[in-house]
Amino acid sequence: MSASEVRLAPLSLAHAPAMLRWMREPSVRWGVGVRAEPSMARTVEWIHRALSPDSGVHAFAILEAGQHVGNVVLDRVDAWLGTARLSIYVGESTHRGRGVGRAAVNLVLRHAFRTLGLFKVWLVVHEENAAARRTYASLGFVEEGRLRGEFLLGERRVDALYMGLLASEMPHVDEEVTT
Ligand SMILES: CC(C)(COP(=O)(O)OP(=O)(O)OC[C@H]1O[C@@H](n2cnc3c(N)ncnc32)[C@H](O)[C@@H]1OP(=O)(O)O)[C@@H](O)C(=O)NCCC(=O)NCCS
Repeated sequence: MSASEVRLAPLSLAHAPAMLRWMREPSVRWGVGVRAEPSMARTVEWIHRALSPDSGVHAFAILEAGQHVGNVVLDRVDAWLGTARLSIYVGESTHRGRGVGRAAVNLVLRHAFRTLGLFKVWLVVHEENAAARRTYASLGFVEEGRLRGEFLLGERRVDALYMGLLASEMPHVDEEVTT
């Protein structure tokens, strides 16, 4: 897989069945921190809300060589502070560990900093999510805080890590990756 095979497309209702399938997988559901039991009704409602113009949500389907393999989302956009939260999942497990996640985060950071003009992108990741932490760290995110026990993996509490990346820290990001 080359990073240039990864593209982002606006999320739409057509992506709902794959989203639901992925949300039912514990690795995705727990990694992302979804609380409610996933259902098609909730998935469709979430997409509808994300697509409404005043939602403050920028949701993208991740396409690898044209195939929908996951989603990446910016939400909680704070126009006053110039900040937004990032979340991502490569739902197709066979597509993980091949650079797709890193390339997709890279692309959405370009959108955040270059298109939206944000100051900072932040995220929350649980401390045991090695793949996600490695992905974010490799793009320059730094740990900004640790909230003890604020992430539930089933009934087990683990620490939640807040990570952030400033626009001024972006220039190192791969130039060859384009939307
Ligand atoms: C986290 C996630 C998006 C990463 O995407 P990915 O395509 O698997 O990751 P990549 O192949 O782009 O790898 C990115 C980095 O993570 C590292 N990595 C990948 N899988 C790893 C694993 N299982 N353990 C440790 N590091 C791992 C890679 O080596 C790479 O680091 P490097 O650039 O220093 O070599 C993906 O694993 C996923 O969707 N997980 C389930 C949902 C989730 O947890 N989302 C994040 C919520 S905060």
